[in-house]
Amino acid sequence: MKIAIHHTEVSFSDRWVSYCVQKNISYKLVDCYKDNIIQQLSDCDALMWHFHNASPKDTLFAKQLLNSVAASGKKIFPDYNTMWHFDDKVGQKYLLEAVAAPMVTSYVFYTKKEAIEWVNSTGFPKVFKLRSGASSANVRLVKSRQEAVRLVNKAFGKGFSQYDPWPNFTERIRKFKHGKASLFNVFKGFIRLFYTTEFAKVAGNEKGYIYFQDFIPGNDCDVRIIVIGQKAFAMQRMVRENDFRASGSGITFYKRELFDEQTVKIAFDLTRQLNAQCLAFDFVYKEGAPLILEISYGFAIQVYDACEGYWDSEMNWHKGKFIPQNWMVDLTIK
Ligand SMILES: Nc1ncnc2c1ncn2[C@@H]1O[C@H](COP(=O)(O)OP(=O)(O)O)[C@@H](O)[C@H]1O
Ligand SMILES: [Mg+2]
Repeated sequence: MKIAIHHTEVSFSDRWVSYCVQKNISYKLVDCYKDNIIQQLSDCDALMWHFHNASPKDTLFAKQLLNSVAASGKKIFPDYNTMWHFDDKVGQKYLLEAVAAPMVTSYVFYTKKEAIEWVNSTGFPKVFKLRSGASSANVRLVKSRQEAVRLVNKAFGKGFSQYDPWPNFTERIRKFKHGKASLFNVFKGFIRLFYTTEFAKVAGNEKGYIYFQDFIPGNDCDVRIIVIGQKAFAMQRMVRENDFRASGSGITFYKRELFDEQTVKIAFDLTRQLNAQCLAFDFVYKEGAPLILEISYGFAIQVYDACEGYWDSEMNWHKGKFIPQNWMVDLTIK
């Protein structure tokens, strides 16, 4: 068994390669951006690529390439069931509804008329989201009908850029104040007030649909459970000051006692039901009941090194450090 690995700096592939070296697993570095990628794979049995939601190139073709490679009988990571819905909250709404998963009630409209009718008949606050985006960048609280109407007009007008410069700049300042970003990073955000990102240019504006969720009040954190095969680990993320959004806050906790085992079981059961290799689930709680906000195959790397252990699918706790990216390789060569 020989694995092809597409290597990108600061991605899962750093650890995939180290693990292959350490375990003597046969691997080859390939370049998915090259026209001859299928030929490059001719002597390999599997392809692993940690493609990224904010890469202008990856989002153009990563899913298409991986699924094509799978069609030739080779294994892929992430596989179809793991990633077709990646960075697509609209896709996830349908998927989680279809399998009757406990999800925050979500709404999507493809005409202005239907969106306005809904806005006029529902209560507020609601949560507005673009279908794509991470670290809370494309998520906001809509407090009134008027605000929702403005968003609907924009969604069916010029649309939303994937890069909103002002909130991005203020978020960099917040991180700087908490010692989580450098002054240079703040400076980059300042420059970005005048020049949008390559990704936003390639992706174009999000338009022609609008997506909302019911707002679940009273959560000072969200809980992320990540399942990889038969193992799961968790992180609690606190919301930002005077905000309802946790994702990307950088304020995280890991003690086992913080996590409700029923929630971990839901994540295990759904991963099995969806036949996925690896899924991160973001949960909030409504009167004690866990509700999924979104799912994702990709996640940050170093922050999870602070986890104190993991559960297996029998819900036994394994105390100690671990490297989740190694489990991805194990799943691929299984
Ligand atoms: N419907 C909701 N009710 C309450 N809080 C929410 C809701 N949706 C999102 N949040 C908060 O906003 C954060 C970002 O939302 P999420 O859908 O996970 O987007 P992202 O892809 O940016 O992580 C979450 O971590 C959670 O704290
Ligand atoms: Mg999230």
